[in-house]
Amino acid sequence: MSGVVNAKRVEVIGQCKLYLGDCIDILPGLGQVDAVVTDPPYGMAYKSGHNSARKGAGKVLSRKDGDFKPIAGDDKPFDPSFIFALGAPSIIWGANHFNHVLLPRRRWLVWNKLCGKTALPSGSDVELAWCSEPGPDRIFDHLWRGIMRAGEENIVHSVKHHPNQKPVALMSWCLGFVPAGIVLDPFMGSGSTGVAAVRAGRPFIGIELDESYFDIACRRVQDAYRQPNMFAPSEPVGPSEQVRFDLEGGAA
Ligand SMILES: C[S@@+](CC[C@H](N)C(=O)[O-])C[C@H]1O[C@@H](n2cnc3c(N)ncnc32)[C@H](O)[C@@H]1O
Repeated sequence: MSGVVNAKRVEVIGQCKLYLGDCIDILPGLGQVDAVVTDPPYGMAYKSGHNSARKGAGKVLSRKDGDFKPIAGDDKPFDPSFIFALGAPSIIWGANHFNHVLLPRRRWLVWNKLCGKTALPSGSDVELAWCSEPGPDRIFDHLWRGIMRAGEENIVHSVKHHPNQKPVALMSWCLGFVPAGIVLDPFMGSGSTGVAAVRAGRPFIGIELDESYFDIACRRVQDAYRQPNMFAPSEPVGPSEQVRFDLEGGAA
């Protein structure tokens, strides 16, 4: 990695480097990465609100299934051209929302969220990711229907950290479609890609604009180094120290 990095904060956790700030400002200061696996704002002005009815009653909201603020950047069309310019094999979730700017005849990854359950009136049965490399389209089954969530994000084990959160199992599956080496997620959110990278023993760079999600991502990545993955038969164990950098001068 090289150059001046315009981040408000950088956290180095094991093999992961997490930046707080705008990826458009930060990416030019970073070096080459080996893969991009990301889930950007789709430009659909998504509103969470499972608990919104309780808001008026003045009750304390739990984040069990989320009443979240609007996502930064989700109020305008997403332009992925700066991701293409990185020149790394890329997987971009939600790319069906901007498919008019994608290269044709590439691989699509499909996340089947219903797994045989009935569809909800709102929300899609599947989510789609576009891959920059060609190949057969693939499907991943992982239940995620309202508060019915499979695996470690099940309500018994975890609160929902982010309105657009992806299952770590899904992001782990994605990593099998990109080459080895440094994984970049420039729209890290709550850090699901980072947790998957840690478990795969891969270096990771994450960028997030919103400080509250950045802090959650730092904690989840740190936990991924500290805790064994109860939902996988085996996992790589990595370093656990955390180093904090003061970026007042701008350079990382
Ligand atoms: C769809 S969410 C990612 C959710 C993530 N996959 C997860 O599992 O938590 C997109 C994230 O990108 C962040 N974001 C939006 N614009 C950004 C920008 N210019 N630079 C960095 N992050 C940005 C938003 O704050 C949001 O958290």
